[in-house]
Amino acid sequence: MAEKEISKAVVARLPRYYRYLGELMEEGVERISSNELSLRMKVTASQIRQDLNNFGGFGQQGYGYNVKYLYAEIAKILGIDRQHNLIIIGAGNLGQAIANYANFEKRGFLIKGMFDVNPRLIGLIVRGVEIRSIDELETFVKENDVQIAALTIPKTKAPEIADRLVKAGVKAIWNFAHTDLNVPEDVVVENVHLSESLMRLSYRVCRIQDREEKSREKTQKKKKA
Ligand code: NAI
Repeated sequence: MAEKEISKAVVARLPRYYRYLGELMEEGVERISSNELSLRMKVTASQIRQDLNNFGGFGQQGYGYNVKYLYAEIAKILGIDRQHNLIIIGAGNLGQAIANYANFEKRGFLIKGMFDVNPRLIGLIVRGVEIRSIDELETFVKENDVQIAALTIPKTKAPEIADRLVKAGVKAIWNFAHTDLNVPEDVVVENVHLSESLMRLSYRVCRIQDREEKSREKTQKKKKA
């Protein structure tokens, strides 16, 4: 496939396609039309066709999409058909929760090591992964072909650790610390902020509450009139 810049919006939607296609495979579905997929995913069929056309389509008129093939192609596009070595910086609540989640490995993300400054944590093993001293960071990164680092440390420490990671050759940072990181162009950062997601949810639930409140007021006014 020719190298083509795919929009961020499309890339952001691909994991969802991947998840639905995985479920279809589990159900034994071999092919699916964009209309059927549209009903399941609650996305328009034209959106699906447009998105998948970015990669040459994979679909055939009157046949639909070959589920297994599309699943494998999306995995290739997302790079989850390859192994990515990952480390976790900060072995506290969140760092350990990530290490304890076994499903990342199924997607090719291998947790190679965890790092912390707390002497009480150093040396402990979480699901087979040793917590090491942050002093070992650079040597470990070089010796273990580390591509991705998850940052689960306080935000005040994140910029300094990000600099060290970049200098050591890490190309991707999965940033959970609540701060924006300044990194060179050839390093990618994916920010994950559960609280921002919760604030978006709050916004939406408040709109529903406001609408309900208004409609209650209307009904009461009508009753009084
Ligand atoms: P925690 O206090 O349990 O763990 C933080 C760990 O980082 C501690 O073990 C500490 O010793 C270690 N640490 C501190 N400085 C370090 C350094 N320079 N190098 C290596 N390790 C260092 O905190 P928790 O609950 O695990 O949260 C961690 C971070 O993730 C916080 O910044 C928190 O705000 C953030 N967070 C983000 C979420 C998100 O959705 N993005 C959700 C929950 C927490």
